[in-house]
Amino acid sequence: MISTQLLRGQKALVTGANSGIGKATAIGLGRAGADVVVNYVTGRDEAEKVVEEITSFGVRAAAYEADVSDEGQVVAMTQRMVEEFGTIDILVANAGLQRDAAVTEMTLAQWQKVLDVNLTGQFLCAREATKEFLRRGVVPEVSRAAGKIICMSSVHQIIPWAGHVNYASSKGGVRMMMETLAQELAPKKIRVNAIAPGAIKTPINRSAWETPDAERDLLRLIPYNRVGTPEDIAHAAVALASDVMDYVVGTTLYVDGGMTLFPGFATGG
Ligand code: BGC
Repeated sequence: MISTQLLRGQKALVTGANSGIGKATAIGLGRAGADVVVNYVTGRDEAEKVVEEITSFGVRAAAYEADVSDEGQVVAMTQRMVEEFGTIDILVANAGLQRDAAVTEMTLAQWQKVLDVNLTGQFLCAREATKEFLRRGVVPEVSRAAGKIICMSSVHQIIPWAGHVNYASSKGGVRMMMETLAQELAPKKIRVNAIAPGAIKTPINRSAWETPDAERDLLRLIPYNRVGTPEDIAHAAVALASDVMDYVVGTTLYVDGGMTLFPGFATGG
């Protein structure tokens, strides 16, 4: 884990931070010196544990409950953060879920839920964070940018995924949302970027890695030959959020062990 204080004095909001990639990212940002709001929608105990771990680094943290797909709750959450933490410097729009089904079995509710959380949720959080970035403007002692938004996407923003049309569509949408916001907000000194994780060991895809057979099948898709960890993503998020990456705008950082590189060719066969 990056141990430098790259984010000292910054305030970060991480959605879906009670488990998986969001949890590791919240902890990573805290370790890098940021004060962190740990958003969750269910799993309060887990969220409080994440807060405890982050505060042990000597920074502030708090757990806020909000459903990112609910406009009123997102508005209330960001307002509360501004009141209690002073501002928002970094948003990691991470909260996401899968509701998998073959297309003929997929209900409208399954389609809608995934789009609501994965795409609309990121939009709402990005919109509200942006209002605060614009209100505050650049504070040079804190960061060269007025704000940083990191959208948690997926390799499935470019790799179609049979049996997951709702999820793949949501991530394809995240890509274009991110790039459009990046273009729109760069003149205001707001940097919008995305991370596209590949297969990471988290609860969302437990069935893909929890048995040795499943893990072997999964590794066939990964040239680097290991399943990713949430910390792999946290490192990327810390770097992207920091001024080290100040000239990085509208980019997707693939953190996938090479999954997007036509992995069937990895052995040269
Ligand atoms: C999905 C995981 C999947 C990975 C690679 C992620 O976006 O959430 O379930 O294992 O992509 O296919």
